[in-house]
Amino acid sequence: MIENDLPATTITDPALFADDAKLHGMLARLRRTDPFPYVEAEGHLPFWLATRHATITAIELDPVRFISAPRQVLFSLAHIERSQKLLGNLPPSTRMRNVTAMDGADHRVYRAITQSHFFSKALNGIREDVDAIAKEFVGRMDIGTGACDFSGDIALLYPLRVIMSILGVPATDEATMLRWTQQLLTSQDPEFNDSNASPITAMSEMFAYLQPLIADRRTHPRGDIASVIATAQIDGEYLPDRDVFGYFLIIATAGHDTTSYSLAGGLLALLENPEQLALLRADPSLLPTAVDEFIRWTSPVKHFTRTCTEDCIVDGKQIHTGDIVVLSYPSANRDDAVFDDPFVFRVDRKPNRHLAFGTGPHLCLGQHLAKMELTAFLREFLAHIDDVALAGEPRRVQSTFVGGVKRLPIRYRFH
Ligand code: HEM
Repeated sequence: MIENDLPATTITDPALFADDAKLHGMLARLRRTDPFPYVEAEGHLPFWLATRHATITAIELDPVRFISAPRQVLFSLAHIERSQKLLGNLPPSTRMRNVTAMDGADHRVYRAITQSHFFSKALNGIREDVDAIAKEFVGRMDIGTGACDFSGDIALLYPLRVIMSILGVPATDEATMLRWTQQLLTSQDPEFNDSNASPITAMSEMFAYLQPLIADRRTHPRGDIASVIATAQIDGEYLPDRDVFGYFLIIATAGHDTTSYSLAGGLLALLENPEQLALLRADPSLLPTAVDEFIRWTSPVKHFTRTCTEDCIVDGKQIHTGDIVVLSYPSANRDDAVFDDPFVFRVDRKPNRHLAFGTGPHLCLGQHLAKMELTAFLREFLAHIDDVALAGEPRRVQSTFVGGVKRLPIRYRFH
């Protein structure tokens, strides 16, 4: 067990998330001594921090008392001000809505538009495509040097290709789409912040790109998600353009770096636990449990928030209408009330009731897709890559929201 004495307020510091041991040390101490603290950190709105698996589950399963509007993520006031300054000038017709921000019937209706397309049965239709993309990306590792930055060269790009092909964006436009989404979501990590980037420009360019795509799918629907969203109707009307954009954008972003960080962080865990890699190689039937463990271990979404709609008691503490609650998924996923030896990485862990995908009405829409992608990649990786080892210091993203391993230098033998 790792321990440290950091105050709970450090949970608002993006740099803490670049140091896994410090982060988990602090969360473990909180779970034991003060599992639901009220955090008043400089430069942030105050909030309650839910660290236990049981508390987070109870809050997510009570969507009337704990709603997703008006905010889903807790950033610093300075970060919010910067984003508002950059995006606030947009005309109302382009202000997007998306499912993560909706509650009640509104949320159910919008979510239902795509939900069945992401059920595991429906995904069988794209299994071969995902397998082919996995093959292509493992194939990219077949380079003479037998060395790469696994995060930047492979893990970042593979889920991007999968999600873009599902959405219906051609491979030739992927790099542009990646640039737009990165510019729109101002990053907390200085390395990813391009001071010349303008979210307004990115937004208008993306709208201009998506408009003909939507019009095309309305006249010539295909089997992609762009067609599903573009042709969806509520009360006999197509969704307003801004909602179509919002839907498209949430799938494009939610379906990308989350899976990338699970893949890179999962590989790092295998390299740090060579007996687990050996176990998996010896018994590929462990792939499904290994993938679940990748996701538990890395917990790439660090939090979502809920807002309380009525005074109530949580974990013995009185909380009030309007209070913000931060749900710490990495903490839930190391909770020893639920997991045996939570700090041990085990490819055969079963059961694995992790909360990395959340739970309740907002449960990750893409969970089956993410698992399918990771399984396809890992199968291909094990078939072609041997003698894999770390070739430098891994580095993690500074982010309180979505993050993980951003540099993973490895060397290996391809066969
Ligand atoms: C929601 C995690 C991959 C699409 C969420 C939530 C989490 C999450 C924690 C919020 C759940 C809650 O509030 O209870 C992850 C992780 C992934 C992953 C860890 C990969 C390992 C994907 C993929 C897609 C996707 C591949 C592609 C479709 C979404 C969408 C939502 C969502 C659309 C919003 C659902 C709603 O509000 O109803 N995800 N996700 N995610 N995820 Fe994922």
